[in-house]
Amino acid sequence: MELKIKNVCCIGAGFVGGPTMAVMSKFCKEIIFNVVDINQKRIDDWNNEDLDKLPVYEPGLKEIVSKTRNENLFFSTNVKESIKNADMIFISVNTPTKKSGLGAGKASDLKWVENCAREVSSNAIGHTIVVEKSTLPVKTAEVIQKILNSANQNNKKETSSFDVLSNPEFLAEGTAIKDLEYPDRVLIGGENKEAMLALSQMYQNWVPKKNILFTNIWSSELAKLTSNAFLAQRISSINSISAICEVTGADIREVSRAIGRDSRIGSKFLESGPGFGGSCFKKDILNLVYLSEYFGLMEVARFWEEVVNINTWHQSRITKIVVEKLFGSISQKKIVVLGFAFKANTNDTRESAAIKICKDLIMEGAELVIHDPKVNSIQIENDLQVKPSSENYCQDENYINNQLGKWRFSNNLNIFENAHAVLVLTEWEEYKSIKWDYVVKKMVKPAWVFDSRSIVNVDLVKKAGFNLWRVGDGIQKE
Ligand code: UDX
Ligand code: UDX
Repeated sequence: MELKIKNVCCIGAGFVGGPTMAVMSKFCKEIIFNVVDINQKRIDDWNNEDLDKLPVYEPGLKEIVSKTRNENLFFSTNVKESIKNADMIFISVNTPTKKSGLGAGKASDLKWVENCAREVSSNAIGHTIVVEKSTLPVKTAEVIQKILNSANQNNKKETSSFDVLSNPEFLAEGTAIKDLEYPDRVLIGGENKEAMLALSQMYQNWVPKKNILFTNIWSSELAKLTSNAFLAQRISSINSISAICEVTGADIREVSRAIGRDSRIGSKFLESGPGFGGSCFKKDILNLVYLSEYFGLMEVARFWEEVVNINTWHQSRITKIVVEKLFGSISQKKIVVLGFAFKANTNDTRESAAIKICKDLIMEGAELVIHDPKVNSIQIENDLQVKPSSENYCQDENYINNQLGKWRFSNNLNIFENAHAVLVLTEWEEYKSIKWDYVVKKMVKPAWVFDSRSIVNVDLVKKAGFNLWRVGDGIQKE
């Protein structure tokens, strides 16, 4: 029996759900896409007339939304109604790391996924394909299936039946639209061939069939975790080598270029930076660690845990270098921080290296001026848990009794007056064209540039008279 999809519901209008459904609505014109969320503000933002106010910033996103919104793409909080009408439901809610209880600090908190499964179970009518889009611990599909199967015991008038598929999303933020339009592969894990084919048919509207892979459901779930773990591992590997470069005189950019030419290694994900951030890498590796521990595979758990440990160590290393270079104290010294997002071309700050580095610099007494073209002051305050400007307070006990520094936000780059140093944390394009010969005149001497993203023009910075530190740069420039 061929299952034809006419009406899709996506629960969760976040960084994954929103862009994914937008791209699907572009290529599957005959299907209605209802994106629902319990957060009214988020939905209002998705429906904002002003497309620059969409809650997610992604290059190319607003152009698609402008064409498909209210045509075959709808954003609302009508969760129940949308579930009722749907023959396919994507679950795309967040799955943060558990803060307390069993598995705290490592396991994913699945309460939102469970809630969704219960909502689906109580409201779906007829046959519904439920698709896991959120990255989930291996075997979550089984839990979802059990909850769904209980539907018919819930005294529902209408009967319902379900298939559960795993269809993890591999998009990276900042390039989400390109990644969705030209995916390296689409992974569909499941048991029922018809349901898998129905989802595959949708993708085939724009993805070549050879790029659509079918696996069993657990392989699909584990492949997503493993994919993120491998990518993060490359970054921890290269960042660990950057520290060796700095003490031996090697240059990490040259090392990356040389090893990347080995076709077995490949050139991507070899850029040393301030440490990986984003909502997925840390969470997914810790999930893998928890899974390994659960099954008694302690050596496997320790292996993957070290990828996260190196990342945290590397972030602290950058703060330490800034303090050392500024004569061992940054108390009351103004430092300009360029970039707060976890990478360029996104307004997302989740797990951004900037959070830990800025917190540590404030703790050392520095006076930060933070610039980011897409992140706002409120978000930074939430992340730092320190109020901007001089009213210093912090809920973190570690900060109490310490002489704290302070921070303020700026949305322009007129911020270099009397600064001792500039610290580049996000690789925004506009930082590449800063006029260093102009900037240096405003700063306290010796003026420093700390470039954790290797984006500044070394010759121009040096010619302007700066001291320059670049990640993984072994050549002494003082
Ligand atoms: C994704 C995935 O879901 C996660 O598994 C993946 O690993 C990374 O992030 P993302 O889209 O980035 O999530 O999360 P977020 O931007 O937080 O969006 C989730 C949305 O789900 C939120 O808008 C939240 O309000 C909504 N939600 C949550 C619901 O609508 N219902 C719920 O029951 C819970
Ligand atoms: C990642 C995965 O790439 C994506 O497939 C998955 O679906 C979600 O998690 P994302 O976190 O959005 O995507 O961005 P990504 O481009 O992977 O960057 C993650 C972090 O690694 C960023 O902080 C980035 O700056 C850093 N990074 C990336 C490096 O430091 N060096 C690199 O060479 C690449």
